[in-house]
Amino acid sequence: MSVSDRLLPGEIVEGLDTEVLGRKEILHFEETDSTNARARELADQGAPEGTLVVAERQTQGRGRKGRIWFSPPGAGIYASLILRPSIPPHEATRITFVTAVAAAEALLHLTDLNVRIKWPNDILVNGKKVAGILTEISTERGAVDYAVVGLGMNVNTPGFPDDISERATSILIETGKRFPRTDLLREYLRRQEATLRRLRTSGFEPILRRWKGLADTIGKEIRVEMMDRSYVGWVEDIDSEGVLILKDRKGASHRIVSGDVVLL
Ligand code: BTN
Repeated sequence: MSVSDRLLPGEIVEGLDTEVLGRKEILHFEETDSTNARARELADQGAPEGTLVVAERQTQGRGRKGRIWFSPPGAGIYASLILRPSIPPHEATRITFVTAVAAAEALLHLTDLNVRIKWPNDILVNGKKVAGILTEISTERGAVDYAVVGLGMNVNTPGFPDDISERATSILIETGKRFPRTDLLREYLRRQEATLRRLRTSGFEPILRRWKGLADTIGKEIRVEMMDRSYVGWVEDIDSEGVLILKDRKGASHRIVSGDVVLL
């Protein structure tokens, strides 16, 4: 356990055995609006792959679909990585799958918790959300110039606002004990680097297989809510592009690229 359990760069690098992630530069903010926003600014200025931005507190933590990520001081991991993958934009969702595997494996390795992944970007413990991932990309001439992948993890968060308290949890709530955030962040970086390397060397198929092994979604009856409609049915598969294939109650198949899944 680190001395202060603040996410200080000097403490993060101690015992970190990655080659790229967290190796170039780690920026630590006591408070910022969003670590993804800070990382995007740095990436626009040419910051290299592996640059890490962390904050003790976010005032405008970004979630999917313009939602706010609850980011109280010193409680969670709010971390954004700059990646410069050689992939076309339509493969960028692979980064989210890689990150979900890395974050879930880090939690499984360091805790005894019942950790599952929920499509597309949630990590659940005992059915409640403990972490979320937000990948944002910038493209240039038809290729990904950079991706910023943000991880928000509720580690020592004692409680949540009423509107999310039914659906959200933290390691503290599940175990009754505080957990050293630095240890978890290091383990995530290690696994993120290994999983990204695997994506480069072996392609998406083994990542997706691992993701499916950790997922709580396939075969389940769900309601999936989109901007303008929702469907109820069973999840047949997540296809090779990360798209959810849903069979509705009349037997029709739907390809869902993005939406919120409610397990029924
Ligand atoms: C979601 O589940 O909707 C995604 C949440 C992602 C939150 C993290 S916290 C660190 C990074 N900075 C942000 O502003 N968002 C991501």
